[in-house]
Amino acid sequence: MADLLILHGPNLNLLGTREPGTYGRATLDDINRALADDAAKAGYGLRVFQSNHEGELVDLIQAHGPQVQGALINPAALTHTSVALRDAFLAVGVPVVEVHLSNIHRREPFRHHSYLADVAIGQVMGFGAASYRLGLAGLIDHLAQAAG
Ligand code: DQA
Repeated sequence: MADLLILHGPNLNLLGTREPGTYGRATLDDINRALADDAAKAGYGLRVFQSNHEGELVDLIQAHGPQVQGALINPAALTHTSVALRDAFLAVGVPVVEVHLSNIHRREPFRHHSYLADVAIGQVMGFGAASYRLGLAGLIDHLAQAAG
């Protein structure tokens, strides 16, 4: 089965209790279950990881990126700081979609810049947990179009 890589960055393991007014009540398990269901319906398996460590995420992109059809990432705070994540996606060349629960452009100015924005095929943000499902749908549609 063709696989997709799902990566969750720092502090997203705390979803459900972390700043629920900003990030909602869905847990990471809730989100991953919904993504697995959607992916299975489209004929994809998922490789899902969460890490609080930038280097570990780079290792995961290097290890899995060449083996999967596409990737979906919420880089969390690393969105705004990490050239290393950007470079890892450029190095492996896997199509990647960037998602955020919150609309980063409605928040503090330091959240407005994403180092991944121009590397990603698209961004989805501001829809809470639904951002992930919308992003996955966009990724799957992109892959179908690319396959002709
Ligand atoms: C986030 C937005 C980031 O600015 C923040 O650091 C996060 C979560 C989001 O999903 O809205 O941890 O990526």
